[in-house]
Amino acid sequence: MNIRKAVIPAAGLGTRMLPVTKTIPKEMLPLGDRPSIHYIVEEAVAAGIEDILIVTNRAKDAMEDYFDYHPELEERLLRVGKTEDAALVRYTADLANITFVRQKETLGLGHAVWVARHFVGDEPFAVLLADDVMIAERPVIGQLAEVADEENFSTVGVQTVPLSHIGLYCSLDVEHMHDNVFNVFDMVEKPKPDEVFSNYAILGRYVLTPDIFPILENLTPGYGGEIQLTDALAVLARRGDMRAVAFEGTRYDTGSLEGYLQSVIELSLSNPKCGDWLKSYIKALAEQL
Ligand code: UTP
Repeated sequence: MNIRKAVIPAAGLGTRMLPVTKTIPKEMLPLGDRPSIHYIVEEAVAAGIEDILIVTNRAKDAMEDYFDYHPELEERLLRVGKTEDAALVRYTADLANITFVRQKETLGLGHAVWVARHFVGDEPFAVLLADDVMIAERPVIGQLAEVADEENFSTVGVQTVPLSHIGLYCSLDVEHMHDNVFNVFDMVEKPKPDEVFSNYAILGRYVLTPDIFPILENLTPGYGGEIQLTDALAVLARRGDMRAVAFEGTRYDTGSLEGYLQSVIELSLSNPKCGDWLKSYIKALAEQL
């Protein structure tokens, strides 16, 4: 499987981050000096994916502007000799071939992926949830693509989570195959205690075959009244057509306040522009607490 295309569903309402998400897309909230969507696109590009579709909605135009040229700003920066800043402005626009499509109604993640069907066509594709920022030596989506290529099946990215938290995730019925690769038999979204399969949870990364689209097309709303991607993935898993990869890397749930703050602090600590300053600031602050 040569993965050339990625879909980034980013049309959620972001209710966990209100009130800021009333007017600012959560994907545009800065994790230091760049928005979270920047990290997601860079991950796909680092895995060799150049064609990217971002699924947005009518309140999220700021994302399109971020990945566009800004001639006025660039010209002003160049005029005063700020060539590095001008290059930075252009860099985001030249990162990849990025296109956008609107999900006209917020019907769920499964529906957002289905909206991407014309872009995807008849080839395997990557899905990167815009909320889940991953920091890893090897891009997480690339780790999945490698296994999808070897196994020729749809592949999901998993990690273990504390059993007490599994009800917030999608729990998987898995069997270890080799290295960090698992066979997936079934899954359940946000399980009640008696529905839990294991503490292996899908965390925001998928490589899917186009077989997913006819399944999505015929799904009825599931958990929370939404068209759930998990319900379609469960169909593939029960057919024996799915693998999971326990990926290496740190995942930040930037769609929750805690995960967002954690990502801002940790990513800023490793930012050469402000890392040393932030470290001494945190140490001094901790002494006062
Ligand atoms: P989430 O449930 O994490 O996002 O969806 P949300 O709905 O924005 O969050 P809250 O709970 O209201 O705070 C997972 C991913 O699916 C996308 C989201 O943008 C996020 O990347 N999504 C979700 C869509 O694109 N469309 C939808 O209809 C629902």
